[in-house]
Amino acid sequence: MHDFMYKQGKLYCGDIDLAKIAKDVGTPFFCYSLPTIRRHIQAFEGPLAGVDHQTCFAMKANSSMAILSYMAGQGLGADVVSGGELYRALKAGIDGSKIVYSGVGKTVEEIDMAINAGIMMFNIESEEELEVIHEQAQALGKKVAISIRVNPDVDAQTHPYISTGLKENKFGIDVEGSIAQYLKAKEMEYLDVVGIDCHIGSQLTELRPFIDAIERLKFLIARLKEHGIEFRYLDLGGGLGITYSDEEPPHPNEYVKAIREAVEGLGLKLIFEPGRVIIGNTGILVTKVLYRKQRSGKIFVVVDAGMNDLIRPSLYNAYHDIWPLRENHAGRQKADVVGPICESGDFLAKDRNLPHLSRGDLVAVMSAGAYGFTMASNYNSRPKSAEILVDGAQYFVVTKRQTYEDLVAEEILPDEILQK
Ligand code: LLP
Repeated sequence: MHDFMYKQGKLYCGDIDLAKIAKDVGTPFFCYSLPTIRRHIQAFEGPLAGVDHQTCFAMKANSSMAILSYMAGQGLGADVVSGGELYRALKAGIDGSKIVYSGVGKTVEEIDMAINAGIMMFNIESEEELEVIHEQAQALGKKVAISIRVNPDVDAQTHPYISTGLKENKFGIDVEGSIAQYLKAKEMEYLDVVGIDCHIGSQLTELRPFIDAIERLKFLIARLKEHGIEFRYLDLGGGLGITYSDEEPPHPNEYVKAIREAVEGLGLKLIFEPGRVIIGNTGILVTKVLYRKQRSGKIFVVVDAGMNDLIRPSLYNAYHDIWPLRENHAGRQKADVVGPICESGDFLAKDRNLPHLSRGDLVAVMSAGAYGFTMASNYNSRPKSAEILVDGAQYFVVTKRQTYEDLVAEEILPDEILQK
C-alpha cells in the first residue's frame, strides 16, 4: 500500500501532482511519501505492542537526514555499518543507546567513534574484530556491549548478492565457531556480552528461513547457557521483502506473529533491523524521457536517470515498475527503459510492455525508496538527483540536486604537477 495514485489521469503523491514537482525541481528526483513512511512504521510497530523490543532502521536502505530525523521522533533506532552512518544517525537525533553497529569491516576509528557514542552493541563479525574491539575498549577505559553475528547457514532463497546467511558468505561467525568466541569474550575484561545476532539476507518473501534461523539460534542460546553465558538481546536483523512486481511477501503482521511464537519463553529483548520493508515502497524515482529510438525492431526509451541514480536493475537485474506520470493507454509495445550512461548495463527496465512514451514524457520508477539514493554515484560525472519528501499537499526538498561545482569541490589540483 502506498500513496502514489492516479487522479484524473495524473500521477499524484498524496495531494500533489508529481508533474508539478518535476516542473519546480527538474528531473530526475526521488520522491517519498511521509504518510506512507508513518504507516509502514506503524505496520511494523503495531504488532510488536507489548513486546520488549527496539526497531533499529537499517540506514543503508535510506539515510536521508529528514527521514531519519522523522524516524528518531517515532522512537526508531538505527542499524549502522559505517562511521558515516553513525554520524548521520547521531546527527538525526537517534540516541546512541538505540544504535547497533553491524558490518564485517569496522575500522579502529569507527570503533572508537561508536564506543564514545555509547551504542547499544557491536554486532561482531569475526574473531579478529572481537580482539580489536576489546583493545579499543581497554584503551578508552570503557566496558563495551557486544553480540556476535552468527551465520546460521540457512538459505534465504533470495538473490545471491543479497543472501548473507549461508556459510559461503563473508558475514558472521558460524554456529560452532561462535561458541569459542563467546567463551573468549566472556573472559575479556572490557567486553560485556549482551546479545546474539543474525541477518540472513534481504528481500525474503517467505517466513521459513527466518524461523529456521531462530531455531538454530535457540539451540545455540541453550548451549551457551550451559557455559554460563546469558543474553539480554536477540537481534534478528532485517530482510523482510516487499512487492516490486508480483511477489507476495508476508505482511509485517504475519512476520511478527511467527517470530513472537518462535521466541516464546526466551525472555530476551528483540532487536529488529528492517530497511526495505519500511522504506522501499514509500519512494519513487521520477525521470524524463529524453529520446525514443528504435533499432532492429527494438524500442529504447532513453530517460534522464541512469544506473548512477538507481543501480538495482543493473546490479541485481531487479524489477521496478514503470508508471507514466500521465495515464496513457496508447499502443502498448515492448520497450527497454535505459539511462544516458555509457554502459550496456545501464537500464531501468527491460522488455516491458509500456504505453507509447515520447520525448518530454515523465515516468516514475516505482519502489525506489530503499537502496536507491543510498547506492547512487557520480559515475559519468552526473550530479546526484534531488530528494523530495511529500506530506499531504506540501512538499519539501530534503536533498538538493548536486551542482557541477559540487562535483569538483573536493578535488585538488597540485601546483607541482600543473607547472610541468
Ligand atoms: N541488517 C543487516 C546487518 C544488513 O546487512 C541489512 C541489509 C539489513 C539489516 C537490512 O535488510 P533489509 O531489511 O533492507 O532487507 N542493495 C541491496 C540490498 C542489500 C542489503 C544489505 N543488507 C538491494 O538493493 O536489494
